Amino acid sequence: MKSVFKIAAVSLFLAIGCFGLIPTAASEKVSAVETSELASLYGTHCASCHGGDGRANTPKGRDTDADDLTTSKVQNMSTAKMTRIIKNGKGDMPGFARKLTAAQIAAIVQHVKSF
Ligand code: HEC
Repeated sequence: MKSVFKIAAVSLFLAIGCFGLIPTAASEKVSAVETSELASLYGTHCASCHGGDGRANTPKGRDTDADDLTTSKVQNMSTAKMTRIIKNGKGDMPGFARKLTAAQIAAIVQHVKSF
């Protein structure tokens, strides 16, 4: 009886372990892909002026007087307003409505808000 109980306990433990692990591993993989895609979208379209870290400490960022995206002014900006600025541009910043899809712009806004 004792060994039957042991086997049952071990298989229960394994079953819980597997159910616990599979969704975690899958979601980690998805978010890793999304994160690298986001970084490259931002890197391709925004980093030349705003810098990879958002601080606009690049030659082009200083030339155009680009905003530091890590300041509370930008971080507290509504998603709608930031989306509008990225679509339409502002001052020396070009608009991206024709270059990026709405989904790409939404993803970039989330990336900027993570600075
Ligand atoms: C050619 C350089 C350049 C590029 C490329 C660029 N920006 Fe800008 N950005 C600027 C400048 C300059 C400003 C300041 C505009 C102003 O207030 O006159 C600015 C301002 C901003 C602001 C703040 C606006 C405000 O009102 O405070 C945000 C947010 C922003 N940029 C996001 C982005 C994102 C996201 C991208 C990529 C999709 C991007 N920028 C690409 C130059 C650039």
